[in-house]
Amino acid sequence: MPITTCIFDAYGTLFDVTAAARQAAAEPGRETLAANWADLAANWRFKQLQYTWLRALTGDHCDLWQITQDGLDWALEAAGLLGDADLRARLLQLYWELSSYAEVPKMLETLKKNGLNTAILSNGSPDMLAGAVNSAGISGVLDDVLSVESVGIFKPAPAVYDLVGARFNCAKSEVLFVSSNGWDACAAAGYGFHSVWVNRAADPIDRLPAVPQHFMSDLTGIPDLAARL
Ligand code: LAC
Repeated sequence: MPITTCIFDAYGTLFDVTAAARQAAAEPGRETLAANWADLAANWRFKQLQYTWLRALTGDHCDLWQITQDGLDWALEAAGLLGDADLRARLLQLYWELSSYAEVPKMLETLKKNGLNTAILSNGSPDMLAGAVNSAGISGVLDDVLSVESVGIFKPAPAVYDLVGARFNCAKSEVLFVSSNGWDACAAAGYGFHSVWVNRAADPIDRLPAVPQHFMSDLTGIPDLAARL
């Protein structure tokens, strides 16, 4: 069955989650952050993801904006920066306005020109996703932005991937799912989508029950792949 629908993870896939710490570190007066912004960004991201999985397991759902702040507080404390309220506020502001990776607008435009459905499927809350989509200027090339908030549990719960078929009335085999999060790409493959892992950092593959069918180092090749399948 040909691909009719391309679905994208948001954070780390379309939007560069390290940009907030990198940008803040380049601002005047942020010497302590400048020395270890990459560690802070990695801890922030890892704690944010870990809290989504733990909350999904225990049923203590809250939205990703709360979790993003909780993960940041852990990372700031680990960096000895927990007392810097101005830095905390600045990092959260930058996270709200994350830029997209350079190839994203043209790649989405090409998919739309080729007649495909395009959407985000993300752990993000609707308001934080709207902030990122607007600052990246890509709302015109997305048919929808699907948030886990409508099901109240985070990825990789299958109820989240169910949102795609419900919205676009398509079979799993018509969907190309794209994520830079290896665990998300694995889960989407296990769910039954065609799945692409966008592995910008050349990380090892996650050891999980299903393996994505496709691997890329950035998003440039997505329209060609969607046309080929
Ligand atoms: C998302 C996270 C997993 O956008 O990156 O869903």
